Amino acid sequence: MGKGFYISKGVAVGGVVVAVAALSTIIALSVVYSQERSKTNGSDGEATVGPTNAPPTPPPSNEPWDQYRLPTHLVPENYTVMLWPRLTPDPDTGLYIFTGESTVEFECVEETDLILIHSNKLNYTSLENGQLARLTSKSPQTAPSITQSWLQTVTQYLVLRLNSKLVKGQRYQLYTKFTGELADDLGGFYRSEYFEGTEKKVIATTQMQATDARKSFPCFDEPAMKAYFFITLRHDVDKVALSNGAAVETTTVTVDGVTVQQTVFERTEKMSTYLLAFIVCDYGYVNSTTGGVLIRIFARKPAIDAGQGDYALSITGPILKFFENYYNSSYPLPKSDQIAIPDFNAGAMENWGLITYRETALLYDPEFSSNSNRERIATIIAHELAHMWFGNLVTLRWWNDLWLNEGFASYVEYLGADDAEPTWNVKDLMVLNDVHRVFAVDALASSHPLSSKEEDIQKPEQISELFDAITYSKGASVLRMLSDFLTEEVFTRGLQSYLKEFAFGSTVYTDLWKHLQTAVQETGTDLPANIDAIMNTWVLQMGFPVVTIDTVTGVVSQQHFLLDPDSVTPPPSPYNYEWIVPIRWMKTGAVQPPRWLQAKSETVNEMKTTGTDWVLANLNVVGYYRVNYDTANWNKLLNALSVDHLIIPVINRAQLVDDSFNLARAKIIPTVQALDTTKYLDKERDYMPWKSAINNLDFFYLMFDRTEVYGPMQTYLNTKVAPLFQYYKEQTGDWANVPGGHLDQYNQVNAISMACKTGLAECTALVKSWFSDWMTTGTNRIHANLRTTVYCNAIAAGGVAEWNFAWSKFEEATIAIEADKLRYALSCTKEPWLLNRYLEYTLDPVKIRKQDATSTIVYIAENVIGQSLAWDFIRARWSYIFNEYGGGSFSFSNLISGVTKRFSTEFELQQLRQFKEDNAAVGFGSGTLAVDQAIEKTQANIKWVGENKNNVLNWFEGANTP
Ligand SMILES: *[C@@H]1O[C@H](CO)[C@@H](O)[C@H](O)[C@H]1NC(C)=O
Ligand SMILES: *[C@@H]1O[C@H](CO)[C@@H](O)[C@H](O)[C@H]1NC(C)=O
Ligand SMILES: *[C@@H]1O[C@H](CO)[C@@H](O)[C@H](O)[C@H]1NC(C)=O
Ligand SMILES: *[C@@H]1O[C@H](CO)[C@@H](O)[C@H](O)[C@H]1NC(C)=O
Ligand SMILES: [Zn+2]
Repeated sequence: MGKGFYISKGVAVGGVVVAVAALSTIIALSVVYSQERSKTNGSDGEATVGPTNAPPTPPPSNEPWDQYRLPTHLVPENYTVMLWPRLTPDPDTGLYIFTGESTVEFECVEETDLILIHSNKLNYTSLENGQLARLTSKSPQTAPSITQSWLQTVTQYLVLRLNSKLVKGQRYQLYTKFTGELADDLGGFYRSEYFEGTEKKVIATTQMQATDARKSFPCFDEPAMKAYFFITLRHDVDKVALSNGAAVETTTVTVDGVTVQQTVFERTEKMSTYLLAFIVCDYGYVNSTTGGVLIRIFARKPAIDAGQGDYALSITGPILKFFENYYNSSYPLPKSDQIAIPDFNAGAMENWGLITYRETALLYDPEFSSNSNRERIATIIAHELAHMWFGNLVTLRWWNDLWLNEGFASYVEYLGADDAEPTWNVKDLMVLNDVHRVFAVDALASSHPLSSKEEDIQKPEQISELFDAITYSKGASVLRMLSDFLTEEVFTRGLQSYLKEFAFGSTVYTDLWKHLQTAVQETGTDLPANIDAIMNTWVLQMGFPVVTIDTVTGVVSQQHFLLDPDSVTPPPSPYNYEWIVPIRWMKTGAVQPPRWLQAKSETVNEMKTTGTDWVLANLNVVGYYRVNYDTANWNKLLNALSVDHLIIPVINRAQLVDDSFNLARAKIIPTVQALDTTKYLDKERDYMPWKSAINNLDFFYLMFDRTEVYGPMQTYLNTKVAPLFQYYKEQTGDWANVPGGHLDQYNQVNAISMACKTGLAECTALVKSWFSDWMTTGTNRIHANLRTTVYCNAIAAGGVAEWNFAWSKFEEATIAIEADKLRYALSCTKEPWLLNRYLEYTLDPVKIRKQDATSTIVYIAENVIGQSLAWDFIRARWSYIFNEYGGGSFSFSNLISGVTKRFSTEFELQQLRQFKEDNAAVGFGSGTLAVDQAIEKTQANIKWVGENKNNVLNWFEGANTP
């Protein structure tokens, strides 16, 4: 799936730090099993059966159908699937449903008298002898007969017992006829709704990953069970029907007296079930062709008419070309469709040939979209297109290797976006968006290694839990490091031969290492060890090192970096928390030959310094580690920042800030030394160091915005940001023009948001005047780049009139990108009653779409006034929220970590523990780990505040009195 679903870059870049949030994944509802036990009459008059005929004996837990993994006796080869979604509710039941028929042809590779095929929430029509399926043989011998059939709901199987064994080497066909609900649950075959004017439109669409294909039709729903699919969709005459393959034939058929259209799609390539997609909608599109590949962007008709698909269309062709070249492999399909879905829980989903997106991740409008929205579109398209090969053509065999699939796409998305938008320097941003962000999670004792054991990942919710920051951002970070020390040339050489060998097949992650190792040998690349040996230290143990360089003795050493060294001891690691560390470095501004650290500690004479020379390591932060130095070297680096900061590369200026603040958190250096790195910021004009500082100061705001440190901190930061604010005021001709560079545009947003946040009167007056201009004239003249921060600060400074105005604009917004900005800004009010009302709105899907509920609650919790309101709110309604919104979704861990982020008192810790205890029976689903992490973080915060409050207060007061 597309990354970006655990962070809303649009808002994060809006200068208001939202470290978690938005865009989560499948609400799989995989643990919310409905108790469908009784017989009923289907709408077509035939008898359909829910999970009936319970297993013959009370479930002994070791039967094959109690295992979550499929047995290996049967291998699917091709499926013929017809699905018919009804876009109006059934008049009798009021339910939206779909009906379907499926025939799967499979080969028996080991004899067995049991067929297990995945099926979830489907009701089956009884066939011969009352069985739920019909089995036929492809050979002259007749097939065994089905003696018993039932639905095993917990493990999500349709189970068929046979009167004799299937024969090894023979092919069989299994036919079923079924009904499912087209629910608004964002998983499997589901329903999305929107209004065109006053007319309600309904879309039938899918989200299969990870385990919901089985909610659309019975299938062997594991990624390695690749097969060919012959898909047919039935739909109303005027609708668009889409699937992975191109439509090859459309006919009109009359079924049960109803005339419908039937669209047949070309056979797919051999593929995994989780990459299937079926859509029926009333959309428009724009199209083009690149190198013989048909490219189409689909969206609501008004959005297409307004040109909102044009940007995506213009970059898709070039990015496809880029990846064809990068992978040395032609795009494997004849067409590439991309479609924006109003209700979509992930950021995007790489269905082969039919990629689905949130509207904000695909649709661009120059009037409404900021440069950050545009960047997100470019990177997420690149991410999904990268998967067309890496993930779809070659697929990891099981979900435990998800990190390689998602980490890889999260790395190369920057390469694809950079190719499409070469002036942006977008590759640099990976350090902020991925490396620094995941460091925060991976520095906890409760982190986990990138790679999981296959046997540990079985249940759907265990699979869902893997879609986290470690998988995406750490995966991307270590692959970027690997590509850097191999060189991009060697990296792509190995990658290309890997894709050639395994096309249409499945792999484990070490298959990639083998191909890279071959490329290393063929090119004579010099490495200190095999790729396997180097990468195991990064992949098989959690966390990362802090490398300490003593420039007096030349001793370079490493140590597992833990944000809270006093927390629970991390579990033992097979590599003793030592890594094989590539070190790129410079001395006093001059780049030096790279080094490796291969032991706990080594002496590197070249790193000794004398006089004013200094050492700076991890150039451009290509290595996945932090760096510490002896005090003298730190002082020389701080001096370099204050005298001529440009001598230090911009990414490393961001690193010095981020590393110091985190080393201070871990008590490796004093907190005041970290604060010292912010002293030069009045001279800094670049985005990355500012963003890094703001991200780190966010923690200070969280810990201190309810204490006496707040005032002096505000005064200090105000003096640092005021020059930046003036700089942009001049650069833009008194805010009339847009800065030229992409990153300059971002930093303009930082300037305004920090200036307003620290109470610069000129800033508050400016945003209020812009907002009231909109309120009085009805014309919004606020530039799209600035809207998030301007709306937020104007609403914070205003009252109910501003809030209600923004709410009405939110309700009217016809483009999701604008609605998202308003949805965030509405959380900025200082009025508790407005915040409470807004919290209530989050659980009303008519007001706030389900996909946005958890992120909205987190936004409210970010607000110092909203914090306790949001916490009370989720505590009071946990079981409801969990059942409606939770299940297997990882937005849930964001909800918990977001709402508890400010926790730093004993009382809050006690409440959190109580919350865990009180809801043990309901559970936390994919948020289980997040609850423990929140407890760990709260404990660390309590200690940190106790140890630092006085020092920090004194430091700010000292800095404010020159
Ligand atoms: C199904 O798959 C088998 C094996 O790949 C193939 O021989 C057979 O022709 C396929 N059936 C159809 C209808 O294409
Ligand atoms: C499936 O069967 C159950 C139990 O009879 C029923 O409650 C449910 O509505 C049915 N679902 C559909 C989509 O028909
Ligand atoms: C785009 O679609 C239109 C309408 O179906 C068609 O006439 C045109 O040839 C297509 N253009 C390309 C480049 O495929
Ligand atoms: C793969 O590389 C070879 C050699 O450079 C080149 O001739 C070929 O066109 C490339 N294929 C693709 C699909 O890029
Ligand atoms: Zn992905």
